[in-house]
Amino acid sequence: MQFGHFDDEAREYVIETPHTPYPWINYLGSQEFFGLVSHTGGGYCFYRDAKLRRLTRYRYNNIPVDDGGRYFSINDGGDVWSPSYRPYKTELDFFETRHGMGYTRITGERGGVRASVLLFVPVGINAEVHQVTLTNTSDAAKQFSLFSFLEFNLWNAEDDQTNYQRNLSIGEVEVVDGAIYHKTEYRERRNHYAVYGVNAPVAGFDTDRDTYLGFGNGFHEAAVPHAGKAGNSVASGWYPIASHQLDVALEPGESKQFTFVLGYLENDADDKWESPGVIKKDGARELLARFADNASTDAEFAKLNEYWDNLLGSYTVESGDNELNRMVNIWNQYQCMVTYNMSRSASFFETGMGRGMGFRDSSQDLLGFVHLVPERARERIIDIASTQFEDGSAYHQYQPLTKRGNHTLGSGFNDDPLWLILGVAAYVKETGDFAILDEMVPFDNDESKAATLMEHLRRSFNHPLEKAGPHGLPLIGRADWNDCLNLNCFSTEPGESFQTTGNKTGGVAESVLIAGMFCAIGPEYAALARRRGDEAEAQRAEKAIEDMRAAVANHGWDGEWFRRAYDYYGNVVGGAENEDGQIWIEPQGYCVMGGVGLEDGKAVKALDSVRERLNTPHGIVLLNPAYTEYHVELGEVTSYPPGYKENAGIFCHNNPWVIIAETMVGRAEYAWEYYKQITPAYREEISEVHRLEPYVYAQMIAGKDASRHGEAKNSWLTGTASWNFVAVSQYLLGVRPDYDGLIVDPCIGAEVGEYTVTRQVRGATYKVTVTATGTKGARLTVDGKEIEGNTVPYAPAGSVVEVVASV
Ligand code: GLC
Ligand code: GLC
Repeated sequence: MQFGHFDDEAREYVIETPHTPYPWINYLGSQEFFGLVSHTGGGYCFYRDAKLRRLTRYRYNNIPVDDGGRYFSINDGGDVWSPSYRPYKTELDFFETRHGMGYTRITGERGGVRASVLLFVPVGINAEVHQVTLTNTSDAAKQFSLFSFLEFNLWNAEDDQTNYQRNLSIGEVEVVDGAIYHKTEYRERRNHYAVYGVNAPVAGFDTDRDTYLGFGNGFHEAAVPHAGKAGNSVASGWYPIASHQLDVALEPGESKQFTFVLGYLENDADDKWESPGVIKKDGARELLARFADNASTDAEFAKLNEYWDNLLGSYTVESGDNELNRMVNIWNQYQCMVTYNMSRSASFFETGMGRGMGFRDSSQDLLGFVHLVPERARERIIDIASTQFEDGSAYHQYQPLTKRGNHTLGSGFNDDPLWLILGVAAYVKETGDFAILDEMVPFDNDESKAATLMEHLRRSFNHPLEKAGPHGLPLIGRADWNDCLNLNCFSTEPGESFQTTGNKTGGVAESVLIAGMFCAIGPEYAALARRRGDEAEAQRAEKAIEDMRAAVANHGWDGEWFRRAYDYYGNVVGGAENEDGQIWIEPQGYCVMGGVGLEDGKAVKALDSVRERLNTPHGIVLLNPAYTEYHVELGEVTSYPPGYKENAGIFCHNNPWVIIAETMVGRAEYAWEYYKQITPAYREEISEVHRLEPYVYAQMIAGKDASRHGEAKNSWLTGTASWNFVAVSQYLLGVRPDYDGLIVDPCIGAEVGEYTVTRQVRGATYKVTVTATGTKGARLTVDGKEIEGNTVPYAPAGSVVEVVASV
């Protein structure tokens, strides 16, 4: 069952009913000001940091679900409704929400009035624009009132939800010329404020929530829109909000447009007052003036579309498969950008309060956007590397506003260091910017401890070698990529963090996954060293990688698949001898990617075991059999009910590792099948089962042991986005940048037929035409001449190179 459809031409997903199985959301903003909006108008926005600079309030776990957002209400002769359906849930004659690239357009119609709200964050402007278009679709003249509404957050989202003895007394606003200014804490240490204004005379306003809603009422019972008359209330403490009343008259067929702007502004600490107690508002006035006429709003919207045209032009595919085209050309890349912007901070599953930017997460996210905004990838790399410690380990997370490592979480996730190498290698391949390796980057944010980025990578590479266990495999520490495999935790206290509790320090719990990562990512370090002329270091690295491959083959191989780990006692995790959790997905993907067992059949055997034991029509589960009991020696993974999350859920992030591994052994049809299983556009028709947005990946789909098998959770902010983009663009379609040229090595299902990839890299354009045959090993013709191997040398900027791949 579907609840909407893709409009590929417009690059939109069109939701045709408010009654989706879950709020289906979109993101606004691309640089500093961000917002989330659901198809029924729910959501919130913030400046840079979802925790520390939250502009509007949102309540998770609310009833009704997804209540609170930017609401527009119409009172048409006593009939009160909203084009977003919520909060009133008044039935509409027409409803449609179009989620596009950085904007959302919500349209509702009732009783002869059509109201359309376009929400977007203009490029380079710290504001959210709400352009409202009202049309009289009846044959009689209409007079009605329009009310805007949003609720301010008292800036720090966590305090806002906790410190009520203070909060309920500090709220302050100003109202000038119909513009509403939120200035809580501006009197003391904040030099920023928010403004919500509209480019038309207002008939009234409200800034006090109890006046607007009526004490004790829900959003759907809001008193002011029902009364049809604003209270002109001025908040003093309690709950500051912003609402405007506009009285509108429309002839039959007539339309009127209004632009509402919610802006974030900063002043200098020593020049912040216009007069005692009154905000200096030059910035806000300038901002509102920019949107004084509707044509400038249209122009800003056009700029946003241009911005996305440019971004999405660097990798496109044309094929006969619409789902493939729309995922690759539009939605997967879009999700990668959003994930880059947000890391794991703000979604409808992440409150934006708990987590900062993850070291491991951001390094992997980079793989999905480095081709879109390489200069911002560079900046991100430096930020991430600055939170590394001198021994190569790293703060697991940092706060985007301060760029400081998060002390409460600390370090000790022993996979972290390697991801940095992977991210940097992707950046250098994309750009050719080897100079980044000479950039001086601090350790632990301490400039006195700065060293070159290459030196950071050396310490990353050495970390798993220096922290190796009895089998020569890397020690796991608190956890590896699988945050829930906590082999030193031994927690029996409810509520204790599985990730930061370490009740035992035996020093023998080892990870086969980190070993596989070392074999797959280590060669990038060797390649960088060699290209910098350090042959001795390259050889040292290659020797260490060979040794690690041997350690995996000797101690990481179980007979039919790769083992997962050795626990605190040195017992096998992920072997035939275990009762539950016999086979895990991660080492099967990563050890094959690391080249282990490609020659002697182990790789194919491991992938056959994946197919037999882990694959389902909804994706590949993380492990099998699911754990049925809590194991204190394994940690959080066994805390989940069978089939959910890491305990045998389909964790979509690691499915692409198997997809890539399948392409490495040349099994195109399996790789293609695995791709389609989890890719949302192919799941659109089972939206009632999948439940989440059919245009973006979710972190997890419930596995075969769960009663809700096939149901997704945690959409948007997941490494699934970047890894699936890597899998489909670089390995299935087979076009990926390398150090000296563009590799063309397709390995995709025969049903895809002929396709063309257009890839811009280092200023040149490559048009790669392939006829899919379900096999691997194409011969390449470059500008009409056959070449040896599969690397197309980089052409000078500005050139267009025609590549034909044939089997
Ligand atoms: C708050 C504080 C309390 C303090 C009082 C007066 O209630 O919790 O410790 O005495 O304010 O400042
Ligand atoms: C979450 C975390 C990520 C981790 C994954 C698997 O997505 O953000 O860091 O790798 O879970 O546990």
